[in-house]
Amino acid sequence: GNGDTNVTLTETNTSPTKDNSIVQKRSVSCRTAPNIALIKYWGKRNDELIIPENSSYSITLSEDDLCTHTTISMSPEYKCDTFYYENVKQKEIPKRMQHLLDEIRRRTSKRKLDNDHFSYLNWSVEIHSHNTFPSSSGLASSASAYSSIAIGLSTLFEDTEDGTITPTCSYLARIGSGSAIRSLYGGFVQWYHKDPALSECMYPAEQWPELRIVILVFNSKTKPISSTDAMKRTTQTSSLYKERLKTIDEKIEQLNLAIKKRDFENFSNIVMRDSNQFHAVCMDTYPPVMYLNDQSKHFIQLVHEYNNASKITKVAYTFDAGPNPFCFILQQHLDEFLDLIKYFYPAQTQHRFHDQIKTMKLNRIPTMC
Ligand code: DP6
Repeated sequence: GNGDTNVTLTETNTSPTKDNSIVQKRSVSCRTAPNIALIKYWGKRNDELIIPENSSYSITLSEDDLCTHTTISMSPEYKCDTFYYENVKQKEIPKRMQHLLDEIRRRTSKRKLDNDHFSYLNWSVEIHSHNTFPSSSGLASSASAYSSIAIGLSTLFEDTEDGTITPTCSYLARIGSGSAIRSLYGGFVQWYHKDPALSECMYPAEQWPELRIVILVFNSKTKPISSTDAMKRTTQTSSLYKERLKTIDEKIEQLNLAIKKRDFENFSNIVMRDSNQFHAVCMDTYPPVMYLNDQSKHFIQLVHEYNNASKITKVAYTFDAGPNPFCFILQQHLDEFLDLIKYFYPAQTQHRFHDQIKTMKLNRIPTMC
């Protein structure tokens, strides 16, 4: 579909020309949100093409809360490709971003053979990327950044209807960062290892309107080792990892069913176990990879004690490649849980409560689902 505000394409004549039909500048603006993995992607079969060893499953956050805004423009007047991050011109284009540019131009030049409308193939581009969330929020920004750039580039070069996710768009997001392919869609999203070109919205966010997410920031420093490097080390050294791979498809099936039935108990069980197993695999990697810190571990225990005392599962946690918990909770238990956090982590809540914890409604990207 189209017609939404997530992608806007404009064509303008910046210089007065005799022939008004010559377009001097094309630009596209779009925005996408980060996603949180419920069943983690970890390990590649092919590092270049970013082919994952296992399928993964995630929730895309609401763009109203956190997102990356990207504007990409192209013009014959630009001398070279440039990248601006948070309004600051970068010395060079990051390597993976360069891959995306090379790839979209290669694909466009192949099509150019039978359509000479693509005169802008030689135009340089300017990419502007801005996050509405601070990089200190502990959220991975590569997923939202690359999904957004992929949508922008494919809209500009492929002349697709605004907001359409084409195979080229999926490919670009994936070679930017594996997990970015899941941020192309809103709601509950699966990325298939048997068909790595494909990610799919399994359920829109409306499937579970009561579900809330709370993010706690224990540490906002960058991770000790990048996911890319760490997962490579895992595939080379961990035997636990091989066992994990055997269980993933079944887990995803169960998780999908729990979401279908809005069964919070099973949902939580599967999500917390997958997070714990993922971090156990990191520990089984040699030399070990440790993303959780003492506060993360304290929090894990707190959640289990709280759920136990409540006689029902009220909260679930999951940790990506970092120490900050993403918590899932139903709306009816949210206030009580926030009180609990204020009580146990008073220092954080007193000084920077609003920076540290965000509650978010899930929201799908209507144009893309
Ligand atoms: C732990 O997508 O950042 O967040 O493909 O090398 O860019 P690359 O890795 P990346 O890895 C994400 C790992 C994770 C789990 C997940 O998001 O599924």
